Formats: sequence, structure tokens, C-alpha cells
Amino acid sequence: MLDFQKYGIKMWDEPTILSFRRTLLSWYDDKKRDLPWRRTTDPYAIWISEIMLQQTQVVTVIPYYERFLDWFPTISDLAAAPEERLLKAWEGLGYYSRVRNMQKAAQQVMTDFNGIFPSTYKDIASLKGIGPYTAGAISSIAFNLPEPAVDGNVMRVMARLFEVDYDIGDPKNRPIFQAIMEVLIDPKRPGDFNQALMDLGTDIESAKNPRPEESPVRFFNAAYLNGTYHKYPIKLPKKKPKPIDVQAFVIRNQEGAFLLEKNTQGRLLAGFWSFPIIETSFVSQQITLFEEKTTVQESISQKQTFEESYGIQPKWTDRTFGQVKHTFSHQKWTMELLEGLIQKETLNETKHLHWVRAEDLNNYPMATPQKKLLAQYLKQD
Ligand code: ADE
Repeated sequence: MLDFQKYGIKMWDEPTILSFRRTLLSWYDDKKRDLPWRRTTDPYAIWISEIMLQQTQVVTVIPYYERFLDWFPTISDLAAAPEERLLKAWEGLGYYSRVRNMQKAAQQVMTDFNGIFPSTYKDIASLKGIGPYTAGAISSIAFNLPEPAVDGNVMRVMARLFEVDYDIGDPKNRPIFQAIMEVLIDPKRPGDFNQALMDLGTDIESAKNPRPEESPVRFFNAAYLNGTYHKYPIKLPKKKPKPIDVQAFVIRNQEGAFLLEKNTQGRLLAGFWSFPIIETSFVSQQITLFEEKTTVQESISQKQTFEESYGIQPKWTDRTFGQVKHTFSHQKWTMELLEGLIQKETLNETKHLHWVRAEDLNNYPMATPQKKLLAQYLKQD
């Protein structure tokens, strides 16, 4: 066991721990949210909910969760799903590597576990894309194993309960919070214990608007009792996402169909369809090196770059569109739009290009930044 004293943590005695469990669980029994994944013990369904909930709020997740189970009711359906359908199911949730990893994990279950979801922490954690948090959540909720599920919410709650002076944003400090949870977790109702902390962490003990005076466990909360609540959790600022300028090209043919390109390379948004885009941060840097940059010069060079790279010469319109912004975890895109019309249709064979009619756009998985571009374009159409 971790030497709590070494970390400045005063761990409770046994009666306090028992009393904490009782208090938290009776609050949960009374107040727990009625959520679709709380009406099942199917590890497959619980796994899907936990992956979806990692970057997305409960209200947004519910319809995605239900549709996902409708499209892929069993783990073998997920293992065999075509990529386009898989991405469509995830469209809008972001962090698409999560769903690709889920499919790989489903295939692992089919080959290594005879199609039956594994039931020990170690086997669950061996699946692709399942880290300690998800393995803990599935183990405790679906299999009643006494495994903590330590995410940002739980770390925040623990940091306040024990006035933990370690940055919750630094992965190297995670074992401290894991160790606290291993002591606190209720061995009889581990799944409910973990989920009670999730409910507490997303509402009463939220990061932005906490209401500690309403917490069922306020009398266990050292930061609340000692008047240091404002200090916890310790969370040091993260590196800002890198700004990237992107030029997007909305090219339409005589029938009004859109030119879309499948992103076959690159890690970001691979497999998705998008309007052709070119990162311009680099091009405009080159121009400024030699001369004063003007907007006109910049857009001429971008049209040229497009024409050379795609081997087509659209007739460029002079319509203007507002900028479109999209932030990924590590990049912040600012996108400009240019519109071009095309008569002759010989497309560059080295690229994966399609003409897509407006009514067919829905059949092509498009990530959120491209959807924002389309919305901006149609707003002025
Ligand atoms: N966030 C992550 N997992 C959750 C769960 N099982 N219930 C509610 N919120 C969650």
C-alpha cells in the first residue's frame, strides 16, 4: 500500500471509511441518475457507454449509445462492421481512434476469448483501447469486482476530500489517487461506489460550479471543513493547442454536386470524407519571408496550390464566407473557404475523390470541422 503520510495525506480510520461508504451509497440509492447503461449488466454495453463518456457529456452520449447498440447489438456485429458504418456511428463524437480501437478490441474478444467478453481486470485491460479507468469501470459495474475507476472527476473529488497537493493533470500522480480509491472502494458494491463518485463529480463536485455545501459527504471533506476548498484540486495549466490555418475548397460541378476527398493518410481524421483542404500556415509563412503579405496574394497562391495539387482548374467565384473555427485537443484550426465551379470533370486519379450530390452527403462520414464548413457554406448559398 502507498505510504499516504509521505504524500501529506491523512488517511481515515476504518470506522470513518465504513461511514463514508454508507453515506455515499445511500445518497446514490436516493439520487442516482436513471441512465440507459445503468439498466444493464452486459459488459459490452457498459464498455460502449464508458468509451463514449470519456470525452462527451451524458446528455449527448445517450442517443449515440442507443443507436450504436441498435446498429451493432453484439460484440460480433462490432467486430465485423464496415469502416464507413463504424465512423458514421461515431460521427460527431470526435477522437475517432476510440471507435477504431473498439473494433480491434471486439476482434480480439472474438479470436482470443471465444466471443465472450473477458471477466477479469487483467484480461479486460489487455483489450485494445482499454486503459486503467475503463478496465476499472467495466470490472466494477459489469462484474462487481472491487476495482476503482479513476478519471478526472474522481481525482477532483479525492483531491478535495484529502487536500491532495499533487497536480491532477499530471499522469504521474494518478497512482496516488488510485491508492486512495483502493482503500475507500466498497467491496460489496464497487460499481455503485464508482458511479456514485461519477455523479458527485459531474454535478455537486463539478470543476467549474461546485456546491460543496450540498454534498452528502461534506463532513468528510477536509478542504471544505478547513476552508481550503478554493485551492483544490491542484491543476496546472496545460499546453495550448497549436494554431493552424487551413484553406478549404468547396468545388461544385454543373449538377451542383460537391467534390469530396477521402482522407486516406495522416492520423488526424483518417477515413473521413472532407472538402479538399490545404494547410496554409506554411504557404503564408513563405510569402511573408520575401514580401509584405496581402490577402489577395495569399488567396492567389492558395488557388494555385489547389490547382497544381488536384490537377483541375475551377472557375473561382468571388463569394466570401466567414471563417470557421474548430479546436482539437492539440490543434486549433482557423478555416477559410473558397468556392469554385467546374465544367470538365477529369479528376486526379492519385487522389481518392468523389462527386457527391447534396442529398447523398449523409452517406459519407464527415468529421465535425467539415460539417461546420458545409453549414457555413450553405448559410450563404
Ligand atoms: N461517466 C463515466 N462513466 C459514467 C457512468 N457510468 N455513469 C455516469 N457518468 C459516467
